[in-house]
Amino acid sequence: VRLAIGSDHAGYRLKEIITATLLDAGHMIDDVGTGSEASVDYPDFAADVARRVVSGACDRGILVCGTGIGMAMAANKVDGARAAPAGDLESARLARAHNDANILTLGARIIRPDLALAIVRLFLETPFEGGRHQRRIDKVMALEGPRADVPR
Ligand code: RB5
Repeated sequence: VRLAIGSDHAGYRLKEIITATLLDAGHMIDDVGTGSEASVDYPDFAADVARRVVSGACDRGILVCGTGIGMAMAANKVDGARAAPAGDLESARLARAHNDANILTLGARIIRPDLALAIVRLFLETPFEGGRHQRRIDKVMALEGPRADVPR
């Protein structure tokens, strides 16, 4: 599995921990930064990771900021992205099983590194269940793009 990973300054330390762990586990990682705890803007990294995932260059994405919220908001503006913030194991599992999330977002100021690593592992190993969930995902993705009911 090839993964794209990115963070802002608030998520930098946790990103480094996750990256080292996943490299040890044999994953290929595209680390798009940031490279230090100097202040940066999370949408820049969210967009980079989301574009790598929706283009097919990477299979999944992981984004870390202070809460995981800003990263999810920004990544989900990229067509094809299904970014899910998860701060517990069940949310991580269901984000894959029911929502076919292709990007996981984490809050470094919210959860401890050991829980974050367990969430990442579960996110990566859980398959999408398809079936009735596929119909709903199709409806979610149909919300993308120009909307006939919104004047331009
Ligand atoms: C940065 O201070 C913080 O706002 C950011 O990491 C993130 O939590 C935004 O959602």
